Amino acid sequence: MSSNILREARRHEEIAEQLIPPQARPLFHLSSRVGWMNDPNGFSYYQGKYHLFYQYYPYESKWGPMHWGHAVSEDLLHWEYLPAALAPDTPADKDGCFSGSAVELADGRQLLMYTGVSAGPKLPDGTSDDRQTQCVAVGDGVNYEKYPGNPVLTGEDIPEGGSKVDFRDPKIWREADGTYRCVAGNRPADGSGQILLYSSPDGFHWKFESVLAENKNRFGLMWECPDFFQLDGKYVLLTSPQDMLPSGFEYHNGNGTLCLIGSFDEQSKTFQEERDQAIDYGIDFYAPQTLLAPDGRRIMIAWMQNWDTLSIASLKAPWFGQMTVPRELSIKNGRLYQCPVRELDGLRSGRVSYQNVDFQGELTLEGIKGRKVDVTITLRPGDEEHIYKKFSVWFGQDDTYHTAISFRPYESVLKIDRKFSGSRRAIIHQRRCKVPQNGGNITFRMILDRFSVEIFVNHGEQTLSATMYTDLSADGFRFFADGEVTMDIEKYDLDGE
Ligand code: FRU
Repeated sequence: MSSNILREARRHEEIAEQLIPPQARPLFHLSSRVGWMNDPNGFSYYQGKYHLFYQYYPYESKWGPMHWGHAVSEDLLHWEYLPAALAPDTPADKDGCFSGSAVELADGRQLLMYTGVSAGPKLPDGTSDDRQTQCVAVGDGVNYEKYPGNPVLTGEDIPEGGSKVDFRDPKIWREADGTYRCVAGNRPADGSGQILLYSSPDGFHWKFESVLAENKNRFGLMWECPDFFQLDGKYVLLTSPQDMLPSGFEYHNGNGTLCLIGSFDEQSKTFQEERDQAIDYGIDFYAPQTLLAPDGRRIMIAWMQNWDTLSIASLKAPWFGQMTVPRELSIKNGRLYQCPVRELDGLRSGRVSYQNVDFQGELTLEGIKGRKVDVTITLRPGDEEHIYKKFSVWFGQDDTYHTAISFRPYESVLKIDRKFSGSRRAIIHQRRCKVPQNGGNITFRMILDRFSVEIFVNHGEQTLSATMYTDLSADGFRFFADGEVTMDIEKYDLDGE
């Protein structure tokens, strides 16, 4: 039985959505049906379709009491909105249904596991003594019934010293033996973050197992939105730490993302870290979540925004928030690699390609333009003795606007700059990442979808994601080289309305 609060949200989204023409949205990136979107939730494959839920406030384009929006897709690119799945309408979640995940139960129903927030009294330091607990709801892929026994995990299930205010974002999965496990983020006594591991025979009755991983104030403070899975013979822990300090070229986003690669000791149920890296080096990326596709691919999607740059949002916009393109994950040379899902190739048409274009100075190329395009650029030094100093490509470009990627081979630094991308806010608009030194050789693929660009460097070794607000008529590409560059370029339109 759905509550009035959920019924109202469903009625509102159905009406308000009609005021948003499809051209005012990205084509194949999921955007909020109406109003506000943040983290991806419940990213899963269920009854022949990919399901993607999201943190959702349908009534305004700003964060508010959290609902779960819902969409399904057969190919991860064409999304169909379904009615909002959850609303804050029970005692355990009266102030918000925060992030969580989904799994198929043995009886074929879909289980959603999420954080229920119930606000507490204001404290003298200005914070409030909220309760974050883990709740579940079961459904058929459209309608979900909250479990009367909620919450299923509370402050009682946290080890000594752990915060009952910061305990959230359960990621659930099913083990080979049919039991369930989940990880959740928590703030221990040291004020930073830890990931707790729980187990359950049925998805409803949960038991604390272990502190899977501890931050110990190394990577930011509280660890949000954990995900934990096996990949290419390793174990991977993804999390989104709040309040990060930058370190070299890593972790520049304040609210950043962290990938830890290591192993898992089944005896102590703890994770042994071997490597750490940022997940994305762009401006807009947070709270990634993965699923295991039926064909064995580990696919990740993230919120293509970041809490630190939110003043870019306009309250007048009918929607705010979009997801990244879903990305296939792998591990190579101890690093996390990401590539756009191969389904994207099916949207390609109108190939234009140039090989061995030698130039210095400025250049435009016939047929290389567009705002829904898939462009791969490969650079080589035109003169091995005197490697070029700098290469830049401007895109989303006209007389007023452009977004830029530039590469300086001597420093091995790739930079994205969206200062001139239509933002009216003086916030950080650029990010740099260090790429492996390779004598001026580099290749990067750019995926543009009207209001965003995602860059996959050297076949996915690093990625940079950013939204852009440039007028859609700004669709030019322009190339610049300080020194002699040899460039191959291949461009496809990404089609469909
Ligand atoms: C991360 C986050 C989560 C929380 C949700 C609330 O972006 O802060 O930790 O569940 O957003 O919307």
